Amino acid sequence: MKKIGILTSGGDAPGMNACIRAAVRTAIYHGMTPIGIECGFRGLIENKMHEMDLRSVGDIINRGGTMLKTARCLEFKTKEWQAVALNNIRERGIEGIVVIGGDGSFQGAQVLTNYGIPAIGIPGTIDNDLAYTDYTLGFDTALNTILDAIRKIRDTMTSHDRVSVVEVMGNKCGDLALYAGLIGGAESIIIPEREWNIDYICANLLRGKERGKMASIVLLAEGCGSGHEVSKIIEERTGMQARATVLGHIQRGGAPSARDTQLASMFGFYAVNLLDKGLGGQVVGIKDDQIFHMDIHSALKIEHEVNNNIYNLANVLCI
Ligand code: ADP
Ligand code: F6P
Repeated sequence: MKKIGILTSGGDAPGMNACIRAAVRTAIYHGMTPIGIECGFRGLIENKMHEMDLRSVGDIINRGGTMLKTARCLEFKTKEWQAVALNNIRERGIEGIVVIGGDGSFQGAQVLTNYGIPAIGIPGTIDNDLAYTDYTLGFDTALNTILDAIRKIRDTMTSHDRVSVVEVMGNKCGDLALYAGLIGGAESIIIPEREWNIDYICANLLRGKERGKMASIVLLAEGCGSGHEVSKIIEERTGMQARATVLGHIQRGGAPSARDTQLASMFGFYAVNLLDKGLGGQVVGIKDDQIFHMDIHSALKIEHEVNNNIYNLANVLCI
């Protein structure tokens, strides 16, 4: 391949820039021309693309967000707009595309591959909801952001003898809440993959109070109800003061952690090497510390499961 495109799609994630940098530099190393596609699949439809060089990715390795911008482009799901995108790709002479995003973006990568443009997916989402890989890009940074927030919230909750309900992102995946809860020493963790019950949570808080624990953290994953409502019920049923904090988009920003930056560099390098070998319709992942690839279809079929060891450990320790 002589010319390849790179795009970021779906929700942004820390590490996307480091990954773009790695893909661009690996492409140049192989003698290819890298083309930056702006705003995800929308850039293909609107023909918003530009040539990149070594300098265009200078000083982005440690920056959050994505310099190529991202979008949720629903038009690209239709054959009509896919044809427009295809036409632009062919006119530009782009022979392969690296797609950094989540499961939706991977479906877009499969569409491109089906049309004869080999595409490689790199998992970029804070949610860690792609089951074929141990980690997605951005998860570790978001986890550290949540941890930092929990520590600050705990300071004020302890000073006031309050319960704090901290609502975190994750789409339908409870990994951010589960791991942050475990590492941050939360007293209760509520995730969408496991049944939960407010009576049990309140009883747990009251048991803690009897032992002299006056401040507690309840980690609530997105999709399990509203933090404000849960905190109101806790106040009514336990008589303890409760406050809710919805962390929101702060979890998506910031400089990538060391781990995410390294992962981004390895993913970007590996993906472009696959294109260099003429492969498409593949996703890159990490399993037991080894970078690997597999076909998009099989990867998307693997269903997410909660890590039971972590869940059980959290249940033992978070009391
Ligand atoms: P994520 O990639 O984080 O899961 P989305 O599900 O929003 O985020 O998908 C990102 C983008 O990927 C969509 O806006 C669309 O442009 C593209 N996409 C998603 N599903 C498909 C599909 N079935 N066919 C083609 N493109 C898709
Ligand atoms: O997929 C990343 C994510 O941050 C999810 O955790 C969350 O459900 C969603 O995106 C929020 O999307 P938006 O940025 O459109 O509010």
